[in-house]
Amino acid sequence: MESKLEKIREQVTDCKKCDLWKTRTNAVPGKGNFHSDVVFIGEAPGRSEDNKGEPFIGAAGKKLSLALETAGIKREEVYITNVVKCRPPNNRIPNVEERKICRDYLEKEISIIKPKIICILGNTAFNSLLGGSEITKFRGKTIQREGQIYFLTIHPAATIYNQELISVLKKDMINLFELIKAIKNNETIRIDIESHS
Ligand code: URA
Ligand code: SF4
Repeated sequence: MESKLEKIREQVTDCKKCDLWKTRTNAVPGKGNFHSDVVFIGEAPGRSEDNKGEPFIGAAGKKLSLALETAGIKREEVYITNVVKCRPPNNRIPNVEERKICRDYLEKEISIIKPKIICILGNTAFNSLLGGSEITKFRGKTIQREGQIYFLTIHPAATIYNQELISVLKKDMINLFELIKAIKNNETIRIDIESHS
């Protein structure tokens, strides 16, 4: 498992499949615990991530860590990745083509880790993985699709200048890890949306 993820990490580091490689400093492969029950999926690396080649280490990452701590979780315990692995110029939203080309890496990460739950962080991941939009309406909910359970929450960057949203993210993290506990205890959890598309 570890060596398979290591191989993907190497492929991402050298990848030139879409044009984002031309403007990146470093590609940013997923990072964290390969045995994690949950995989967190953000949008794309920002400036700090591009500089260091690690996901969620800038301002948004600090908020994510803070929210995880509220749930008693250290970020090293989980696996964190993004829809696209290279920073789009000026932090624009990655376009459909970039997302499609980069998708293979994300799918491989998921299929190797086989998380009990995937945590969607914000609209880009929501749209890319589940075809959804308006995350603020759906955050806090669970979706089941093709046997995989997803939990939806806001993007940590949205909480940077918004105290209300940081409480929302913290609350969602507490609920997410309650859900994970229930799944591990073989309890039936509430599925809010069964998705078929
Ligand atoms: N925003 C993201 O979506 N991902 C990161 O890794 C950092 C900021
Ligand atoms: Fe390759 Fe993805 Fe980076 Fe594009 S964004 S160059 S597909 S790793």
